[in-house]
Amino acid sequence: MKLTHPQLSWSEQGHPFSEEFSDIYFSSEDPLGESQYVFIEGSKLEHKLSLANNKTFTIGELGFGSGLNFLLCWRLWKKLQPTKATFHYIAFEKYPLDSASHERIFNLWPELKDLSDALLPLLPAPCYGCHRILLHDSVILDLHFGDALERLRTLDKRSGVDCWFLDGFNPRSNKELWQRNLLREISRLSKQDSCLVSYSVAGELRRGLEKFGFSCEKLAGFGRKRHMLRGIFKQAQTTGEVSLANAWNLVPLNKTEGNEVAIVGAGLAGSTLAYSLAGRGVGASVFESSGRMAAAASGITQFALRPRLFQAESPLLEFYLQSYLFTVSQLQQLSDKANLNWQQCGLIQLEQALNKQANLEIERIRDNYPESVIQLLQDSDLQGAVRLGKTEGLFFPLSGWLAPAELCNMLIELSKARLYLDTQIVELRRSNEQWILRDSNQNEYTYKQVVIANSFGATHFSQCEGLSIESVAGQTSTVAGSAHSALQQSVVCGSRTVFPSTTEKEIRHLIAASYRNDSNLNSAQEDDLLNLESARQNFKHRAYLGDQIIESQVGIRSNTADRIPLVGQLPDKDAIHKNYGELSRNARKDFTLDSAADNYWPGLYISAAHGSNGLATCGMSAEILTSLLLNEQLPVSQSVLDEINPVRFIIRALKKQQA
Ligand SMILES: Cc1cc2nc3c(=O)[nH]c(=O)nc-3n(C[C@H](O)[C@H](O)[C@H](O)COP(=O)(O)OP(=O)(O)OC[C@H]3O[C@@H](n4cnc5c(N)ncnc54)[C@H](O)[C@@H]3O)c2cc1C
Ligand SMILES: C[S@@+](CC[C@H](N)C(=O)[O-])C[C@H]1O[C@@H](n2cnc3c(N)ncnc32)[C@H](O)[C@@H]1O
Repeated sequence: MKLTHPQLSWSEQGHPFSEEFSDIYFSSEDPLGESQYVFIEGSKLEHKLSLANNKTFTIGELGFGSGLNFLLCWRLWKKLQPTKATFHYIAFEKYPLDSASHERIFNLWPELKDLSDALLPLLPAPCYGCHRILLHDSVILDLHFGDALERLRTLDKRSGVDCWFLDGFNPRSNKELWQRNLLREISRLSKQDSCLVSYSVAGELRRGLEKFGFSCEKLAGFGRKRHMLRGIFKQAQTTGEVSLANAWNLVPLNKTEGNEVAIVGAGLAGSTLAYSLAGRGVGASVFESSGRMAAAASGITQFALRPRLFQAESPLLEFYLQSYLFTVSQLQQLSDKANLNWQQCGLIQLEQALNKQANLEIERIRDNYPESVIQLLQDSDLQGAVRLGKTEGLFFPLSGWLAPAELCNMLIELSKARLYLDTQIVELRRSNEQWILRDSNQNEYTYKQVVIANSFGATHFSQCEGLSIESVAGQTSTVAGSAHSALQQSVVCGSRTVFPSTTEKEIRHLIAASYRNDSNLNSAQEDDLLNLESARQNFKHRAYLGDQIIESQVGIRSNTADRIPLVGQLPDKDAIHKNYGELSRNARKDFTLDSAADNYWPGLYISAAHGSNGLATCGMSAEILTSLLLNEQLPVSQSVLDEINPVRFIIRALKKQQA
């Protein structure tokens, strides 16, 4: 879902004013002084952060606006730099500013320039959902775009929030935001002694906060304002557990957080995870059956980054779009920091590529994605340059291609993970509250936390039984190009994807890829011919691509029956059967939350079945797993987590009496 930018007017000082809410974003006299006084000093943040060693400190802000409060907090965090600590800032914003307005506002504050310069290029497209931005100094910014109440309601409480900034315009002009229901959600997500600050001292707000467990005090306000408010969360008077999901979807808090993690598989799923964990200071050991990294599907020469598209709003649209945007931003950061050869050349998706599985209508798709993410092909001049056969289609300006093996190698190197090559893990067993990994040479390794990231190889572990993992082989073909194809800049997807040539000297194109319902790694001549024939249909002239097949490569995708990845903690099938067996007699039966205690294997997680979209989905999945492993607040709503939760297959089988 795309969101609208706010309607702004600008004061003589160059400050924004909201036309919808008839209110200012920050003090007209001294923006930095007021924010510093009300939010930073009002919450005693400096003192709190100085005690944050070895912790994740979480702030929730209602009304991200220009990001001023965030920048001030980040500056303070940088100054104090607690050891082995993460600063997690979760902000909610319904009307995100456009990038030009952000830039104009950031220019007001030269003293914050180094931080605002780093943030500006990472600010996301205006789409509904959570945008996770990883910044240096162990800072995570989760920008939840959408109505604050709606977004808060979707979030499960993990570690909880240490401090709240309520900064959503004046309660009189924004009643929609400042409702009691919102305070209920704040209370639900608060840690004991969580601190809340606001410039508003409205009686209704104070009474609401008291009702939901905050003890409030009025403090002297800044400048001409008489008062501001501080509340400390003690205990909600209205207790009672709140369930956001069915009992079997409630993933327990991890009791072994912080320990080194074993990762099985060194493809995109495993390497993105090692990198995410390293960002939080958590070490990983990566076990890989082959003698090199990215030896299987993630070793295909070129991968395109593209989002899976949906024409109706759904948690899946949210997951795929936010994963795609996360990867775009991560690849940009890696190109700047570590010289990754990420070619952000844009991607053309012709109509035939849209309709492989479902009948997608271009106009309905466009309703859900902002122009900065998806454009109509006709609106760009591209088809002229690449001589496309059809002109109906979409253009993704943020997309591009890279060599996935280069990415995997870089991620593992940056993460400083311990790498065990030629080590095939053949068994996982639980003993003394730990996991024992046994390899094919009978060596054993002991860890408290394990993540299975070995694609269809996961089917060999008994803990993955019933997860509906399928393997689909695919072959790429490399062919010679032509004088015309030498001009191709963007990736072109039709019923086959044709990549731009990687060299100027010898023009050649990778064509991806065939689909075979097997796991045979031998290349087949008929796949090459079909690849070439299908690829040619993307273009006006047959001679665009030459006849000669230069080389072929086969890889195996893993997928699930519902074509959605498996990301999350691994359910214990026997426990699920014991706890929810009645679903086979009554598929609609409700269960109480206490039945959820032993649903999942302690410390065992999975990231697999990324299908044909691993480049877009592995990075975000790694962040979701890292947050689960560290009990951080998650970057996805509960409904997204439920869609990718492996438990769905065991529950579905029970309901269909197939267990
Ligand atoms: C031909 C083809 C073209 C594709 N094109 C694209 C594209 O353009 N864009 C895109 O986003 N996606 C594309 N994909 C999909 C993409 O390859 C996958 O989504 C992605 O690579 C999945 O990464 P992974 O780490 O889960 O799996 P893999 O890359 O397969 O990695 C799994 C690793 O686990 C190791 N392993 C297996 N069993 C064990 C064990 N028991 N112990 C230790 N190690 C083990 C394997 O050796 C392997 O290195 C394509 C796939 C194919 C086949
Ligand atoms: C006073 S401004 C915030 C200023 C901001 N904290 C800063 O540092 O610049 C209030 C913000 O709340 C946002 N807002 C208003 N109603 C909202 C709602 N229902 N959900 C989420 N955000 C909302 C507005 O769009 C606006 O950006």
